[in-house]
Amino acid sequence: MRIVIPGGTGQVGTLLARAFHRDGHDVIALGRSPVEAPWRIVRWDPQRLGDWARSIDGADAVINMAGRSVNCRYNAKHRDEILRSRVGSTRIVGQAIARATRPPSTWLQASTATIYAHRYDAPNDDETGILGGAEADTPATWRFSIGVATAWERALDEADVPGTRKITSPGSTTRISFARSTGSWTAAR
Ligand SMILES: NC(=O)c1ccc[n+]([C@@H]2O[C@H](COP(=O)([O-])OP(=O)(O)OC[C@H]3O[C@@H](n4cnc5c(N)ncnc54)[C@H](OP(=O)(O)O)[C@@H]3O)[C@@H](O)[C@H]2O)c1
Repeated sequence: MRIVIPGGTGQVGTLLARAFHRDGHDVIALGRSPVEAPWRIVRWDPQRLGDWARSIDGADAVINMAGRSVNCRYNAKHRDEILRSRVGSTRIVGQAIARATRPPSTWLQASTATIYAHRYDAPNDDETGILGGAEADTPATWRFSIGVATAWERALDEADVPGTRKITSPGSTTRISFARSTGSWTAAR
């Protein structure tokens, strides 16, 4: 299979790329700067369509991992980058898929555990988790993170790609998901 990983130069993307490459798949990681890897790295602009979008045309799967690291001080500049890098890159991946003459059958999209409500009565998981945002006692910093996660998933929902199955969680039509809390892939059919 050809597997394209926007943001595939980061922690999770590199693990995925290495595993898929080892298994014999044709892996293309999209990154903003060139890096050395045994698989293909294509330079892209996560806010603008360009030649890079050709790598998505004819791919079997797209796994979008792009987003500014959240490992930083949450000042105004970083907050803006955290939000815009996720929403913008998800929209542009959707546009690339929408324009493809041979769109990928599957688009897997990273999300985050911070979309869930803060609670002690039960664990939030991909099947039964309660989404956050409506709680009266949510601190402002958490509310920001919930807002980012919600906007990120909305960008995926709004992408008009009828030939491509979009997968995040919860609510996926197939139970393949990127576990928000652990960063691990699970597959259960
Ligand atoms: N790691 C986890 O345990 C975990 C858990 C839950 C959710 N997630 C989410 O899963 C995704 C991948 O996680 P990760 O740990 O692999 O993150 P990461 O190591 O920070 O990698 C993120 C990738 O996004 C790209 N990126 C950075 N800034 C960007 C920007 N402003 N615009 C577009 N792309 C940008 C980077 O590629 P270039 O700099 O090469 O462009 C990088 O390869 C993230 O969105 C993260 O929030 C991760």
